[in-house]
Amino acid sequence: MAIRNIVTEEDPILRKKSRVVDKFNEKLWMILDDMKDTMYKAEGVGLAAVQVGLLRRVVVVDVGDGTGPLELVNPEIVSADGEQEGQEGCLSLPNKWAIVKRPDHVVIKAQDRLGRWHRYEAEGLKARCFCHEIDHLDGHLFTDRMEKMLTEEEVRRLQAQRQQGSE
Ligand code: NI
Repeated sequence: MAIRNIVTEEDPILRKKSRVVDKFNEKLWMILDDMKDTMYKAEGVGLAAVQVGLLRRVVVVDVGDGTGPLELVNPEIVSADGEQEGQEGCLSLPNKWAIVKRPDHVVIKAQDRLGRWHRYEAEGLKARCFCHEIDHLDGHLFTDRMEKMLTEEEVRRLQAQRQQGSE
């Protein structure tokens, strides 16, 4: 296992569409393991493969609710409802935070590291995180969807509280 380098906003790869995974082999398992290490080291709550420079539809999530780390391969939103408005950040956009509207409840489906399909239901922060990470797979960043960027002062206050990790 290894910590991988997280690409940041300037890197055009973040705007590219990631490819569907069709081989559930040791290479994929190594990517998943490295992504989990990298997410925890960076104190994030989610990470998409494109953020470590790999255009594959692979995501890891751990919002600290006891269900993580989740390994989501080829994740897709099945249904979304409700609305939440809250702070959102991204490990690829360090020190940037914004108010972003997201569905409050989502159901997604994703494959695991062996290719088996599962459904996951999520509310609140986890629903936000699923939407944020699946957006990454299509080249979207939270700044595309934000209502309002937080000021430096608001970011400092937020970091002092350490309420939420970046995705
Ligand atoms: Ni992100």
